[in-house]
Amino acid sequence: MQKPTRIAPSLLAADFANLGAEVAAVDAAGADMIHIDVMDGHFVPNISIGPAVIEALRTSTAKPFDVHLMIAPTDPYIADFADAGADVITVHPEANPHVHRTLQLIRSLGKKAGLALNPATPATAIDLVLDEIDLVLVMSVNPGFGGQAFIASQLQKVSDLRQRIDRSGHAIDLEIDGGINFETAPQAVAAGADLLVAGTATFAGGPEHYAANIRRLRGAP
Ligand code: DX5
Ligand code: ZN
Repeated sequence: MQKPTRIAPSLLAADFANLGAEVAAVDAAGADMIHIDVMDGHFVPNISIGPAVIEALRTSTAKPFDVHLMIAPTDPYIADFADAGADVITVHPEANPHVHRTLQLIRSLGKKAGLALNPATPATAIDLVLDEIDLVLVMSVNPGFGGQAFIASQLQKVSDLRQRIDRSGHAIDLEIDGGINFETAPQAVAAGADLLVAGTATFAGGPEHYAANIRRLRGAP
């Protein structure tokens, strides 16, 4: 069942010179989770941050860390991200030939396991791992960069995934990531998403705007 809308600010749009303060600020502003994008310049054409930075940020908030791995391979690094303080670890099926095993590895470390679907990856990708996942992430942009335009074809996939998840009877979060703003957030929620990643839209205008941005993304007046 679709849960009340939660907001996960993506740190990719934060001030990297003040990451700890930015995490504390979005926590105070009402963020439900902190979305952390890990990129390796190989699986995606950009390089971001790794486990050492995540571990350092753990002192800035008690909210869950939603770690989105855009790296290949994944398996040699899963334990490092678990130890660094990730609560959810999400992987792409394209990044690893044995994703079923990867999901089991994440759960064996006591973490929630997520599967991220690129724009061209169909909803059926979750069917044979429904018992192994706690979260499905729909990429509504091609992974690699913040600030890209929302790909509207992904809304139909969100609706499709909502039905698949509800039929499974499992409490799997349905997250959408990329191009989420005040216009696209309600569309994503109407399609069935219950966890919205928002980088640019959360951090727009600086810290004094974070609370209002998050409230508005959540659909509050
Ligand atoms: C893109 C990342 C996203 C990104 C979203 O590869 O997965 O989390 O930071 O940024 P916005 O919200 O600006 O589209
Ligand atoms: Zn992401």
